[in-house]
Amino acid sequence: MSRETPTRLLREQHVHILKVADVLDEILARDAAAGDLDFDAVADCVSFIRLFADALHHGKEEDLLFPELEALGIPRHAGPIAVMLHEHRQGRAFAATMADALGPARTGDAAARSRLVDAAHGYIALIRGHILKEDNILFEMADQIIPDPVCRGLCSAYEGVCQRRFEGCTVTDLEAILARLVKAYPDA
Ligand SMILES: [Fe+2]
Repeated sequence: MSRETPTRLLREQHVHILKVADVLDEILARDAAAGDLDFDAVADCVSFIRLFADALHHGKEEDLLFPELEALGIPRHAGPIAVMLHEHRQGRAFAATMADALGPARTGDAAARSRLVDAAHGYIALIRGHILKEDNILFEMADQIIPDPVCRGLCSAYEGVCQRRFEGCTVTDLEAILARLVKAYPDA
């Protein structure tokens, strides 16, 4: 069996987050073609982004992985960690805009609908570039420098975070949102 790495679970979560970005992209493409936005599916995407991608996943990176990297000498206020933290904040802002605009957009507010769509496009572009950088730069670095005992500690801490609830949702509930989106948009 290959060695457990400090980033395996986070990389697996990236695959789920990218899948939701692909579904959201498909929803927007269908809307652009037919002028019919699937608000229920957008709401699912926004919930997944807020609770799984941000609260659970970015929370683990910011509270667990990045401090270990800092302790090993990677600076927090410059270089890859600083860039990742900045992009997390940008992602949070896009998610908040989507969440705020969703209700009024549903009831026909055209300005809110256009804020929603713009923020969704912004989020998709941001998260794809962000995950590419994390997987290929920061996580490669983490896998090289984090020693085995720290790696084991991190993995059990990740598992602990996965036992929490996020606005009342368990990780299983959030995975069910992902499964529903993939079922509704199998070609995304
Ligand atoms: Fe990440």
